Amino acid sequence: MKLVLLVAVLLIGGRAAAAQQEAAPAADAPGIVRKTLRGTLAQVTLDDGDEHWTLLSESDGSLQPFARGVRPPKKDKDGNDITAGSVVGLSCPTDSTGSCTYVSSSDTTLLAGGATPSAATNKVSQRNLIINIDYSACGSNYSATHNESSLRTLYLGAAGDGTGGHSLRFEQCSYGGLTFNATAFTVVTVQPNCSSLILVNCSYSTISNGADAAAKAILGSTVFATFTHYTYILPPGFEGICGWSGLALLPGKQTWLQTSSYGVSRWATVMQESLHNYGPWHSWLGTAEYNDYSTSMGRGNACPNAAELSYMKWASPVTGGSALNASLLPLGQAVTFNLPATYLTGTGNFLRVVPDWIPNYAYNVYIAVRANKVGDSSLGNGYANRINMHYLNATLDNQLWNGNTNLRYTDRKITVLNTAQVNNTVDLPAYSMVVYGGAWVGTDIMRMYICRYSASAAECPALSVLEARPSPPPSPSLPPSPSPPSPSPPSPSPPPRNPPAPPSPSPPSPPPPSPPKTTGGGSTKNKGRRMLRAGQQ
Ligand SMILES: *[C@@H]1O[C@H](CO)[C@@H](O)[C@H](O)[C@H]1NC(C)=O
Ligand SMILES: *[C@@H]1O[C@H](CO)[C@@H](O)[C@H](O)[C@H]1NC(C)=O
Ligand SMILES: *[C@@H]1O[C@H](CO)[C@@H](O)[C@H](O)[C@H]1NC(C)=O
Ligand SMILES: *[C@@H]1O[C@H](CO)[C@@H](O)[C@H](O)[C@H]1NC(C)=O
Ligand SMILES: *[C@@H]1O[C@H](CO)[C@@H](O)[C@H](O)[C@H]1NC(C)=O
Ligand SMILES: *[C@@H]1O[C@H](CO)[C@@H](O)[C@H](O)[C@H]1NC(C)=O
Ligand SMILES: *[C@@H]1O[C@H](CO)[C@@H](O)[C@H](O)[C@H]1NC(C)=O
Ligand SMILES: *[C@@H]1O[C@H](CO)[C@@H](O)[C@H](O)[C@H]1NC(C)=O
Repeated sequence: MKLVLLVAVLLIGGRAAAAQQEAAPAADAPGIVRKTLRGTLAQVTLDDGDEHWTLLSESDGSLQPFARGVRPPKKDKDGNDITAGSVVGLSCPTDSTGSCTYVSSSDTTLLAGGATPSAATNKVSQRNLIINIDYSACGSNYSATHNESSLRTLYLGAAGDGTGGHSLRFEQCSYGGLTFNATAFTVVTVQPNCSSLILVNCSYSTISNGADAAAKAILGSTVFATFTHYTYILPPGFEGICGWSGLALLPGKQTWLQTSSYGVSRWATVMQESLHNYGPWHSWLGTAEYNDYSTSMGRGNACPNAAELSYMKWASPVTGGSALNASLLPLGQAVTFNLPATYLTGTGNFLRVVPDWIPNYAYNVYIAVRANKVGDSSLGNGYANRINMHYLNATLDNQLWNGNTNLRYTDRKITVLNTAQVNNTVDLPAYSMVVYGGAWVGTDIMRMYICRYSASAAECPALSVLEARPSPPPSPSLPPSPSPPSPSPPSPSPPPRNPPAPPSPSPPSPPPPSPPKTTGGGSTKNKGRRMLRAGQQ
């Protein structure tokens, strides 16, 4: 039946609108069961090379997955954009498991757009329901090893009040923007039925729908509905079946975690899944998804990188650094900024470069200083105590920055570009731009420079010249150094294009975060305050 439908679609696929009109009768061919659904579209972060889409049913809160690789149409029957986060009504033909095998434009109606309340905001207190799944029904070796108290301790710390555990990392990394409400926080252990879809296929929707039903039976539907976020803890043995440590809806309010050292026990995995619910995808190194070790959205035991902090509205750019373009970066002249390490404050902690001097530029660049303290205490050596640079899809980034949230759930593909230490010059030829690490001007506050050129880095000043300049407002009268000895060619050996090898994937368990530092010089307002709220850009 599925084949008949596919052939019909392929045959008429060439004639856009007409084809979609004609697809419906084909789908209604005898034997094909159609299903009508209404709810919110989301992607599922299964990284197996296919897109996975699901619909969160408005009527009963169940997940209705589309078959592997099946995606919703780009437009509904009236030409409205359909994206992740859209609330839609649709009808579709289904396979033997009830999953949509095709969704046509003519059978889809947009009910509400993608710019939904589930979007990132700068202040969220989650009310978490942790559903601890005991799959004894799948075999005695699939019973749960976590319980109410072990999960509460993991999430909220030994005191169970949010002053420790994963909760503290969320608070630190978000500057207080994303917290868990310890009063509302609830763990319920359920014993759902088993099936081969669970034990063989690790069907995320079969798992969550069954767990939800079991949790409602215990808590009551009314109480169940008071939570804002739902997390499914799978018992030991499922990591091998599922092939993932954590999973999330994007956007959404559901996450799945394994009972394993890289699953629910690891704060950065919990953070990655929780943040997916708000829209960030994974962070990359080169062509390797996940391989950015400077962020929990990659493989780092670290807070999100600047591009992600900005997306979450937890951090704002340095004054004057929100969109560094050709008019703000005069050719061959270095512009100076003092950047506080991101752990210090969310207020004014990054630069956003919009390289509009490059014809048809495809990528914007985010620049921030990272240091291995507080939330970033386990940040690896390749990224700590240096400038971190990331590039991402400029079209999507500019849209979002300019207030167009239509494609906010599309992957901007944040990718490591390079790093720079103090007293270090990095030429970025693809951007006709030089980034310089200057000196520390306060505790974890770095003076840095940025200079664009037209043909070569030789047009930009040498770092030694820049560092010899008297710094404008602060520093006590340094005698201006006599003019540089030579016309200063750019450093002949630019640093490697690729950042240093990331740290080993399994570092020792992080030391407890140090208390907020209130020391430090420099000119940044609010320095040393870790709970500071990010200002809106
Ligand atoms: C809960 O689980 C932890 C760790 O698995 C265990 O040490 C503890 O004894 C359990 N507590 C109860 C009440 O079962
Ligand atoms: C946390 O949850 C409690 C209990 O539901 C509620 O009274 C309180 O207002 C919540 N606090 C926040 C900050 O949302
Ligand atoms: C488990 O399956 C049995 C038999 O099919 C059914 O009666 C029961 O309601 C199911 N339990 C749950 C929690 O779904
Ligand atoms: C479940 O997994 C089995 C074995 O890999 C496969 O043959 C089957 O098609 C899968 N079923 C579904 C519904 O994906
Ligand atoms: C659980 O037991 C089944 C059947 O004995 C076995 O096939 C499976 O590998 C076991 N799983 C684990 C995680 O030990
Ligand atoms: C460059 O950025 C400034 C400040 O954001 C803005 O006013 C200006 O329009 C931009 N220039 C161009 C060419 O977009
Ligand atoms: C950026 O995203 C847009 C919209 O999804 C896409 O069309 C474009 O190809 C992407 N650019 C790059 C360089 O991947
Ligand atoms: C900065 O680097 C240059 C050349 O790499 C070196 O000569 C100089 O001593 C360094 N300065 C400091 C303060 O480390």
